[in-house]
Amino acid sequence: MKGRFRFIFIGFMLTFLAAWIGLVVLPVWGLGNFKQTPDPKTGEMIPPEFTALEERGRDVYIANGCIYCHTQQVHSARNRTDIVRGWGKRRTVARDYMNHGVAQLGSMRTGPDLSNIGVRNPSETWQLLHLYDPQITSPGSIMPPFRYLFTEQPIGSDGTSADAINLSGENAPREGMEIVPTEKAKALVAYLQALKLSEYEIPEAAAARIDSKIIDSEIK
Ligand code: HEC
Repeated sequence: MKGRFRFIFIGFMLTFLAAWIGLVVLPVWGLGNFKQTPDPKTGEMIPPEFTALEERGRDVYIANGCIYCHTQQVHSARNRTDIVRGWGKRRTVARDYMNHGVAQLGSMRTGPDLSNIGVRNPSETWQLLHLYDPQITSPGSIMPPFRYLFTEQPIGSDGTSADAINLSGENAPREGMEIVPTEKAKALVAYLQALKLSEYEIPEAAAARIDSKIIDSEIK
């Protein structure tokens, strides 16, 4: 190689090297080495890890496209009204997602943000009914029913099973039958109950909280 071509080649290499460092090396360095820390109040390690059941639930969440309508990120009070709406006590920070595998951040908010649904509505009964048919718990909802996560089975000789969901009126199962959640529905609800993204104190979370407080007082 000679003359101008050498410069062009070196120019190309430097451009790609700079992009690679900026887009790959620095993010992995900055975001890839998070560690859990003990909670100053409870001593438990935070952010918490998911159990095997909750991880299966996350797979169900992904497979059913919940992300097309729900986000899992609380924005700072500076940008949006998430905190005023009660979607979280503080904005979420990168370390909150360290145990989430592929974080289900989402970008569409056809439904509410689910970052802290495990705190806002921990009821298993409510979550199962809502998944079976959102109209039961939230009349007028445009969320689709996920009935295929449930099965209909004959009521056994010992009577209705403990985990049969309580349906009445037009949703009532046929005579002698009951509706029970499948393993997938149970795992999904366990995952929803575990979503408590901005409930604990990691150092940068405390900073995020102060940030929200300042803004809150500015709004008032
Ligand atoms: C087509 C859009 C859409 C899809 C897909 C969708 N949802 Fe929803 N979701 C909504 C809407 C709209 C609401 C608000 C009305 C209601 O409560 O049903 C909602 C509400 C919720 C709530 C209650 C939130 C609260 O603050 O009370 C939960 C929990 C929920 N969805 C979970 C899920 C899960 C889990 C999936 C995937 C299996 C899913 N959603 C898929 C639109 C959607």
